[in-house]
Amino acid sequence: MNEKKGIDQEFLHALKQKNDIVEVIGSYVKLDRKGGNHWACCPFHHEKTPSFSVSEADQFYHCFGCGVSGDVVKFVREIESTDFMGAVRILAAKAKMPVPESNYDTEEAAKRRKKREAIVKIVLDSARFYLSNLYSGDKRADAYLQYISGRGLAPTTVKKFGLGASLDYNSLPEYLAGKGYFKEDLIDSGVLSVSEKNGRLYDSQGERLVFPIINAFDEVVGFSGRKLEKVKFGKYKNTSTTLLFDKSKTLYNVNLLKKLKREQPINEVIFVEGQMDAITLYQAGFKNVVATMGTALTKDQARLAKRYTDKILISYDGDFAGQKADSRGLEILKEAGLEVRVVPIPDGKDPDEVVRESPEAYQKCLDEAMPVIDYRLHALERKFDLSRTEDKRKFVSEALKVVNEAESESVKEELLKRLRDKTGITFHALERDLQNLTKENTKTTMEIVLPQERFAETAAGTDKQRKAVRFILAAKLFAAPYAKDVNVSELPLTDEIHRIIARYISVQEESGTRIRPSELFEVLDEDCVELNEILDLNYGDKLTGEVAERFFIDSLKTLQSEAIEKEIASLNKAYAEATEEEEKKRIAKRLGECIQKKNALKKS
Ligand code: UTP
Ligand code: MN
Repeated sequence: MNEKKGIDQEFLHALKQKNDIVEVIGSYVKLDRKGGNHWACCPFHHEKTPSFSVSEADQFYHCFGCGVSGDVVKFVREIESTDFMGAVRILAAKAKMPVPESNYDTEEAAKRRKKREAIVKIVLDSARFYLSNLYSGDKRADAYLQYISGRGLAPTTVKKFGLGASLDYNSLPEYLAGKGYFKEDLIDSGVLSVSEKNGRLYDSQGERLVFPIINAFDEVVGFSGRKLEKVKFGKYKNTSTTLLFDKSKTLYNVNLLKKLKREQPINEVIFVEGQMDAITLYQAGFKNVVATMGTALTKDQARLAKRYTDKILISYDGDFAGQKADSRGLEILKEAGLEVRVVPIPDGKDPDEVVRESPEAYQKCLDEAMPVIDYRLHALERKFDLSRTEDKRKFVSEALKVVNEAESESVKEELLKRLRDKTGITFHALERDLQNLTKENTKTTMEIVLPQERFAETAAGTDKQRKAVRFILAAKLFAAPYAKDVNVSELPLTDEIHRIIARYISVQEESGTRIRPSELFEVLDEDCVELNEILDLNYGDKLTGEVAERFFIDSLKTLQSEAIEKEIASLNKAYAEATEEEEKKRIAKRLGECIQKKNALKKS
């Protein structure tokens, strides 16, 4: 997947030297020079006042509004909706440089790139084949066409989403065989599978309605196929994980979402479970929708979504229970910095059914979107008949457990008031019950709470350490004067990305070449969160001034003291396990030294 590792580094340097970032970006947007930087309205998000800055010195762009940043290659990649090589070709053409197609630094990277290219072709070819089946006049296609119109999809929608059909298991392998692809590539693309019975190749999506899955660069990467008839198991079948496709990193319809973002600001993105939901919503005018293809949300999906919005509306099926709404998935979204609200859908229905009733009915659901905790109460209420005393008691007891998880006292109070209005029980009584619940909880979970607290402490510790490392590396990368004498190769670094960046800094310093932060995109992925966090520190005045200098020194101390703490912990353990007197003495001596160091550090 990572093509850029396959390209000749000298060529890439020359390419960037000939394509000054200010000139290149200036050919797409109007840049104004102000201070040391050039400014424009961001081409990647909607805005009226410029917050998109381009630094000539660093050959780097950054938008304060939406957070995008990168070098000249990344800019072209994004603005032209292409991939890395596509951007390289565009820049090479501008600079009239030949692209050294065969000049790769490693054989393995070249192989990978070739393989990816082959798979892209095979998958696209297959998508076209499925599409042509639908309109081939073949009798077997009728059922699929009928099904599609039965689900209310207009011909323009079918075309927009590139739906197709596989009419049997053998036509696709036969068609692809005539195109001279390698058997190995056909299998690796996931499009064809090998029969266990006779070793022959067959269509992985055999006899299914086929939805092509398209990535943000408009490449078809895989398929999801639906059986028309009712099946107990495997209604949908997705392409297996390949070099191109990984369901856990995929949001269906991200390609159209990206286009939409170029046309208008996107306030929120609707997450649905199924691709059919996404298509019907899109058709009804709710274009800001993606399907997660099931409900198990992943960090990669959260990160992908974060490129387009910071607000998510979870619009899963009506049976998406209150319990599930509390699941890890929603936590993952929150951890990625996304604001999450849940759209209540009537029980037993999915968004597709609601929107087909009427777009207004669905809009009403959207208008009622609520924070996760409110949704859990809402879902709970639907399970009980509050006019029955027994039900009401059960409801209150369950509801208080939910309220107890609210993050603040004010939210708790607000929720209690709502419970009061629903049940007619006084606020005071509810509040007392809630307090008792908290007491009971602490009593029974005392033993568990302790180690958890300790765990939280160490987690915060590493977080502090991460921030410290980020700051030190950023200061070095952007040549902050106070960082000059620090040798990054001596820092105790545990994160692989940090080590890569430190190595880059050391190598540049030793050879006396200028550090160009954007060069790091050649060794690390441009989506690398850690790298972006570090580079973002260069914006605003975060790295300059007295405060920055003090923070830098504190950061160094943090690293040192964390390293010492670690050593002390392991020495303590070694001491407890040691059997020989000599050894114990040796460990105790080292322990003493460490503690002295630690105290000295504290005082300094
Ligand atoms: P659903 O079972 O809710 O199906 O699965 P749906 O989207 O309502 O499908 P229709 O309306 O009957 O056509 C939601 C999503 O979960 C994934 C698919 O991506 C599906 O769209 N899924 C579901 C599978 O991958 N495999 C399955 O067998 C079922
Ligand atoms: Mn459905």
